Amino acid sequence: MTGVWNLGEAMKDPNHKTKRMAHGLMMLGADAGFVATGLMASLALMALTGLLMTASDTATFLVSRLYWTKLCLVALLLGNGTGLLAAERAARRGGEAGWSWLALVSGVSFVLWLVVLFFGVWLTAAA
Ligand code: HEM
Repeated sequence: MTGVWNLGEAMKDPNHKTKRMAHGLMMLGADAGFVATGLMASLALMALTGLLMTASDTATFLVSRLYWTKLCLVALLLGNGTGLLAAERAARRGGEAGWSWLALVSGVSFVLWLVVLFFGVWLTAAA
């Protein structure tokens, strides 16, 4: 939902349209395939498109506290993502603990994802 809305907004903006479209599409892909492996693959692609957008306007982004806060949050999301992969493996092996762990890291991942999403939109508005 948020992805579709964001994509609509992105298309209206002529400023590095392709990269923003890719960034937005990736977010949708990650939303759709909300399993750890898909999430991590989408994150890697988002990092790539995000870095390309950063490169296109370093003067704005590299001095922005908002930008660095977002990157710290992305780092947390990535760290949590590796926990998610491990939890998924543990749950597959069976056992109650694996599933509780998976539920916890999935919840954290969901909240972090929404917060990063919010920061992304905020960054666009502030840039
Ligand atoms: C290393 C990883 C990332 C980098 C370097 C990065 C960088 C950026 C930059 C520079 C912008 C601003 C573009 C502009 O003002 O035109 C942006 C926008 C945005 N980012 Fe990221 N990003 C990263 C990861 C993510 C992730 C994981 C998410 C999703 C949760 C995300 C969601 C967004 C959204 C929704 C926007 C607004 C796009 C738009 O309005 O078109 N980003 N990102």
